[in-house]
This record gives sequence, structure tokens and C-alpha cells, in this order.
Amino acid sequence: MRVAIRRMIPVIAISLLPVSLLQAVDKKFHNAPDSAKEQKNPYEGQATTVEAGKKLYARNCLSCHGKTGQGKGNVPSLLDEKVEVATAGEVFWFITRGSKDNGMPAWAFLPSQQRWQIVSYVKSLGSSPSAALALAAPAPNREPDSIYSAIKAPPPPAPFTDFRYEKPGNTRKITVNDLPQPYVTKSAENGADEVARPANAWPVAPAGFKVELYASDLNNPRWMRTAPNGDIFLAESNAGRIRVFRGMTSDGKPDAMQVFASGLRRPYGIAFYPPGPDPQWVYIGNTNEVIRFPYHNGDLQASGPAQHIADLPTGGHWTRAIDFSTNGKRMFVAVGSESNDDDPEENPGEKDRARILACNPESCELKVYAYGIRNPGGGIAVNPQTGDLWCSVNERDALGDNLVPDYITHVQEGGFYGWPWWYIGGHQDPRQKGKHPELKDKAIVPDVLLQPHNASLGFTFYQGKQFPAEYQGDIFAASHGSWNKAVRTGYEVIRVPLHQTGHATGEYQDFLTGFVLPDGKVWGRPVGMAVAPDGSLLVSDDASNSIWRVSYTGK
Ligand code: HEC
Repeated sequence: MRVAIRRMIPVIAISLLPVSLLQAVDKKFHNAPDSAKEQKNPYEGQATTVEAGKKLYARNCLSCHGKTGQGKGNVPSLLDEKVEVATAGEVFWFITRGSKDNGMPAWAFLPSQQRWQIVSYVKSLGSSPSAALALAAPAPNREPDSIYSAIKAPPPPAPFTDFRYEKPGNTRKITVNDLPQPYVTKSAENGADEVARPANAWPVAPAGFKVELYASDLNNPRWMRTAPNGDIFLAESNAGRIRVFRGMTSDGKPDAMQVFASGLRRPYGIAFYPPGPDPQWVYIGNTNEVIRFPYHNGDLQASGPAQHIADLPTGGHWTRAIDFSTNGKRMFVAVGSESNDDDPEENPGEKDRARILACNPESCELKVYAYGIRNPGGGIAVNPQTGDLWCSVNERDALGDNLVPDYITHVQEGGFYGWPWWYIGGHQDPRQKGKHPELKDKAIVPDVLLQPHNASLGFTFYQGKQFPAEYQGDIFAASHGSWNKAVRTGYEVIRVPLHQTGHATGEYQDFLTGFVLPDGKVWGRPVGMAVAPDGSLLVSDDASNSIWRVSYTGK
């Protein structure tokens, strides 16, 4: 059930439920009956089953759930724990019935053998990525806009670019005048074709920087945050877990690693409260709520149960980034849209979304801080120097390769950033024609326009002592990588220079690249950013399930 933010009551301190209880809610897979749960897959184990299921999946399910089963928008991922822990019988029951009101068709018309084959294939996705990868191999019926032909495509018109031209140190600037008209190119279906990292592949940084592997074998590593004592907190979102890393060995690995909390519902945002050297709590943005655990410097494990701080709407864009104002009086939480570009006045699921919300961290009653921001859930952070709130935003899709730029910007209180009616200032979304002319001039042009579809996620302000002085205070941001562009873009870490002014000029630079192979296959996807106590930059990567460490050597 969706909770209207306006009606949210202050809920803090009422529920001191242990997290395990909070999680008990969706044990049942779409309310499948027990009889379905117990039903066994009669074709399980037959050599041809998964293979046949793969073909049926490509024909019937891929268009919504994606090549690798990753889902997008309001279509859920099939790689999650939720599908993994469901029994084959429950999945069979669900796909037979569908969930029409929510956009999942019923598949009862397929012969039951075919439905079981699909179940075998779907169940193989989460546990063995290789099964999903096999789908990415060239096949006769591949989309003509797939990377296998597009890779020979001519270079994109400047200032737009793609992975073939990303190079550490290259400076780029996209301005409002560079935007093409909508639909100049068609909307591409080009999700990340993920492969294991080949032995000779490694991230590439500018001259003078060295890249090492800090941690590996993680499970969906996403947002990171450095605690005041230097410990590194990491959200492993799909695993429902927060980990802590401590110290650094001489070869650049953590001295210790521990699970701080588990059993959480897709945790992402992490922030320490109150800000400053001596926090009492760590706040976590789960997909459905903000919670907090008691925390004191040095804790490697939550010392008490979670407290509930605020409810958040679920579904659609699921990441919930959080941060605090420098004086600790405000908590910010980002909630992205449910859909790509639905008008909230037509889709009730969009109510109170595509916003940054704010409240008093001790008695939280969420109010709108800024709106019309399609998906800021992948990253918000307060600039520790200026106190300004910044966000990293995934803009809308399906208008062509070079629309709409993602962006990084400081956020004006009460500011309107256009979604869904306008984009990048007063450009009308053609799907929302004629609506809200009064908002046209209110739509703010963001500070730094990024490559459209690059999927800008986590970022941090560099306050370390290790990088050259010119990097002081600059933003380092992850581009998780495109699916809606014929030749992929993003899949890198960028630097947004602030020139020690606290303000952006609109420019950004490629900083860490090399996550895409020359044939377009993807082995790495940056998500979270943190600065280690020694001043090196840590980058989480949820494709290779690792954390990379970038340090400056001057060589
Ligand atoms: C038209 C788009 C569309 C197609 C095609 C489609 N799905 Fe779905 N699917 C959805 C949506 C939307 C949901 C979410 C429904 C809900 O939450 O009630 C969903 C939910 C699911 C779920 C439940 C996942 C979860 O985490 O709850 C499974 C399993 C699933 N689909 C499998 C399939 C399979 C297998 C096929 C092909 C036979 C398929 N879907 C085809 C849109 C689609």
C-alpha cells in the first residue's frame, strides 16, 4: 500500500521492532496458495529445459524484463532474492495468472510444459549469471540497433559521446543549445551485456593515478559512506545487507570486514547522525522506509534494533539516497518516479514521487524540498564546504539517443526541475503536450548536463589529502551506464571540477573508464563513491561485485 506523504504521521520511536520482524511482511510470493508452493517442476533437471526456457523468455518476457532479467522502471528484476527464494511452483502459479492491474500479463495460454521451461530458465537467472549472459550472444532475431551493428556506427555528434571515446582526463560540456529535437533517433534497447571481467581488463585512470582491487566477491555493492572514524560502510542492496570495512593493509585491502546489519529491504542510502565527529545513529534508506540503528564510532555491528523513521512509497525506481544538512537539523531523502514519464495527475502511482523530501531527523514528517526531479534516488549529498544539497539524476528515456541529459546539480529549496512536463528548463516533453504551461518558466536548468542515459548514481565531494590540490572539493560521480542508447555510454566515473568555488561550470571530465570491452560487452558498472581515510577514492561496482581503489602516486 502506498502512503501519502502529506498524511504521514511522525512515527519515530513508536516501532522498536527488530529488523527481522519488519521484514516478515512479504514472505509470500504474490500471495501464492500453499498448494502452488508445493508443486514441483516436472521438467526440472532435463538437459533441454533451461535452453528451451531461454528461447521462450526471449520471445515473451525479454521486452519488459530485459535481456538479463534486470527489469526496469516498474518492471521488477527477476534476479532478486524475492524470485530466487520463491519455489518453482509459486513462480509457475504467478506467471500463469499474471498481475494484470500491475502490468504483468497472464501466460495461461502457453502450454504448461512451456511455462515450466520458462520457470526453469527464470530460476537459473539469479544463481548463474552465465545463463543470462548466453542470451546476449548474437542471434538471428536480434534487434537491428544492438551493439553488434551499432559499434561500427559513426561517432556521435559532439558534445555527445559513447564508451568508445571515453578517456580519462577528457573534458566535456553539454549546454542547453546542444539538445537535439525529440525522436531524431529511435529509442534503443541496449541493456548492459554483462560478462565476467577478463583477466586483462582493469579500470583506467588519468596518468599519475593507480587502480587496485580493494574488495571482491561482494553481493550487489551499491552506496558507500565513510564513517567519521574512517570505517567504510557499504550497502549490498539486493542482499539486504550493510557491511563495514576497516583499515588498509600495505597492499591496499581492508584489514577487517563485517556485516553491520542484515535482513533489510533493499537498503541504499547511508548517513551518520548527527553530522560531525561523534554520531549516535546511522540512518539507512531502505526502499520502503528510512530506519536508523544506534551507532558509535568503532561499532562493526548494530548494537540495537532498528528504529523506524519514515515510510516511503515503493515500486518503480527503488533507490533511496539520504543525507543530513551540515547543522543536522534536516534529513533529506530522495524518491524517484515510479515510471519513465507518467503524469502524476493520470498515474496515481506517481503521487508524491520524483522529489527530494526533507524532515526533522528526530521527529520526521516529510515535506517536499524540491520536485520535478525524475530520479534523484541514486545520489544526494550535502557539500561539506558550502552546505548546499546536490543531487545526481537519471532523466527520462525513449526520446532518442541524445535526449534527455542526466544531470548533477545543486538543489534549490522549493525548486522545480521539470519532470514530467518539461526538461532541462522549458523544453516540453512531447508526451505531455499542452500541459502546465504555467510551469515552463519555473523549470530550472541544472548545473551540469551529463551524457543522456548514462545513469548517474552515487557521488562524493573529495576532501582527502592525497590527490593533487586542484581536485580539492571536486565531485566524483558514478555513471552506471546506459540501456537506452544505440552505442552505450556511461560505465565510468566522472569528475566534476568545482575549482574550489563550490560551484560547477557545466564541465565534467572522464576519470575512470575501461569497464566496457571493445566489442561492447560490459564487465563493470560503478555505483557508489567514498573517500578512504588515506585519501584514496573507492568505487563500488555491482557488475564485477567489487570495490576499486584509486590512489595518486604521481608516477
Ligand atoms: C508487458 C510487460 C511484461 C511482460 C511481457 C512480462 N512481464 Fe513479468 N512482470 C511485469 C510487471 C509490471 C510485473 C510486476 C507485477 C506486480 O508486481 O504485480 C511483473 C512481475 C513478474 C514476476 C514477479 C517478480 C517479483 O519480484 O515480484 C515474475 C516472476 C515475472 N514477472 C515473470 C515474467 C515472465 C516469465 C514473463 C514471460 C513469460 C513475463 N514476466 C513477461 C511485466 C511484464
